[in-house]
Formats: sequence, C-alpha cells, structure tokens
Amino acid sequence: MSYLKISVMKYLLALLCIIGILAMVLTKSKSPPYEPGHIEKTVKCKSDLMERRQLPTADPRPVLYVVTPTYRRVEQVPELTRLGQTLLTVPHLVWMVVEDADACSPHVAALLDRLGIPYVHLASAMPAQYRSERYVPRGVSNRRAAMSWLRDQSPQPTGVMYFLDDDNTIDIRLLEQMRHTKKVSMFPVGLVADYLVSSPIVQEGRVTGWFDGWIVDRQFPVDMAGFAVNLSLVMASDALMPYHAGYEEDKLLRAFGITMDEIEPLANQCTEVLVWHTKTKKNQPPSLRREVASHPNSNIAALAENMERIAMATT
Ligand code: UGA
Ligand code: MN
Repeated sequence: MSYLKISVMKYLLALLCIIGILAMVLTKSKSPPYEPGHIEKTVKCKSDLMERRQLPTADPRPVLYVVTPTYRRVEQVPELTRLGQTLLTVPHLVWMVVEDADACSPHVAALLDRLGIPYVHLASAMPAQYRSERYVPRGVSNRRAAMSWLRDQSPQPTGVMYFLDDDNTIDIRLLEQMRHTKKVSMFPVGLVADYLVSSPIVQEGRVTGWFDGWIVDRQFPVDMAGFAVNLSLVMASDALMPYHAGYEEDKLLRAFGITMDEIEPLANQCTEVLVWHTKTKKNQPPSLRREVASHPNSNIAALAENMERIAMATT
C-alpha cells in the first residue's frame, strides 16, 4: 500500500471516531427518559396534621398546601427559616417540605417542629440518572412526592396546591388571594430572567399570552412560583411533573388539560409583583477544625458544632 493510501485511511479512521463520539454525546443529551412512572423513592417522615397542629375544621376557607423542595447545603436552614417564618403568619396552611435526600434530616425536622406550622415532611431523592444530565431537573422528585402524598390521603384533601421553592420570597397577600383558586390561578414572579419578571399577559380580565424571557416552545411559559392549582385538578388526573429541566411547569400544566380561558389572573390582574425568585448566593461550607483548636476554652467549639448540625460547616 502506498504511503498516500495509508494516510488517507488514517484520516478516514480518525473522522469515523469523531463522528462516533459526536453521535454518542448527542444521543445522550437529546433524549433522557422524561416521563417514567413513579421511579422516585419517597420516605414519609412526619405529618403533623393529625396531631396537635390539626387544621381547624370549622374554618371555611380552602386550605393552602405549599410545596417546598429543599436540599442540604449551607443556605438551607437560613432559607427555610425565612420562608417558614413567613408561612407561620398565614392560617389554614400546610407546609409540605420535601427533601432531595434518601432520608429526612434532623435539622429540617427540628426546624419544622419548632415553627409550629401544620406540616408534612417527606424525603424523595432525585433518581441518580438525572444528576448527570446537562440540565438537572431540580426539585422534581420532591414535587412529585408531594403530589403523590396528596393523592394518597384518605379522605382526599381539598384546597389549593402551590409550589414555592426554598429560595423564593412571598408577600402573604398573594397567599390569601390564591387560596380561592378554582382551577389554576397565575400571577407575576419577580427577579426572573432578563425582564426581571415573568407574567401572563392579561387583557380585559383574560390571560391572552405571556411576558417571559424564555418562551421557546412552551405552551405555558411560567415560573414554578407563578401559578397555583386547585386540588380537584390534581385528584382528577394522574398528571406528573416531568424530569425535564425547563419544561416542568409547562408539561404539568398541559397534563392538567387547562385552557387559557380557565386561567384566573391574580395580583390585581397581574399588575403587581408579590412573589420573587430571590436566589441566595451560594457558599462553600468551611472546615473549622483548625479554628476550633486555636480558640480553646471559648464558644468557638460549640459554635462550629452547631454550624455543622445545620449543614453550615464541616469539622
Ligand atoms: C428554577 C425554577 O425556579 C425551579 O422551580 C425549577 O425546578 C428549576 O429552575 C428547573 O427548571 O430545573 P433554579 O433556581 O434553577 O430553579 O433551581 P434551584 O433553586 O436550585 O432549585 C429549585 C428547587 O429545587 C429549590 O427549592 C431547591 O431547594 C430544590 N433543589 C435544588 C433540590 O431539591 N435538589 C437539588 O439538587 C437542587
Ligand atoms: Mn431557584
């Protein structure tokens, strides 16, 4: 074989390898299994509903079920403290806190117990196959677990379900408004994307379109904190939130089968921002072992121990 032929074959071989690798990468990132059945495992840790913090049955108002996914990190306890103390001021509300973990953490359990809100504490770890995806579907296993819990209750709960992430801030007036959602209500969310807001477009009291920086091919381009759903819709279907980052809200709302006419615009016809995607800056947990050693006979050892207990430090 001539030298020329050998080099051409080498190039062809290299080209084939590159095409093969590209094909592997593309197929992997293209089609993750978006909507499998109940693949997440859920641990039911504690429901304080039936105990001393029972909801007053005499209260005629619909109950609000606020679903908050959360995961272990330095900012977790500060976030849950801020949000929990807001929710504490709202009566007839159940806080469903679902950890992305194999089991419930003692520091989250302690916080819930101390606050005194009627609550449900669950753990549902994100299935391992989604952790390695390019866009990780955050908080999905948690929200699916909360919806399963609601569907599993007997008698079936009535009221309104709302997804409020642990890094969000809410004005309690919006919670009172969404309590009366008949099917699906929607409202603006602040600090989202380029416009710093994501909102339905409302004309003459009806939702006619979307004001959102990332509409793409979404039928309902809304933020996770931008809508509330009456539990009758949840109970009447087996709609699940998909493990599809960016499309969680859209595909869930589509699965409920709602139409534009049925959307109830809140926050004064979607003219006010009453909930925000605040996003606390992320920090690394420090190792305080050396600092503890260099400050003997002081508060620092106990401080570091307490910080470790609430996931704020390693020792
Ligand atoms: C945004 C939206 O606000 C989310 O509602 C949506 O689920 C997410 O995009 C998405 O499309 O994947 P983002 O700010 O990017 O969320 O994500 P985080 O705030 O980090 O997570 C959303 C929620 O899931 C939070 O409540 C967070 O505590 C929880 N989470 C996050 C987990 O439970 N596990 C994780 O590994 C990460
Ligand atoms: Mn967030």
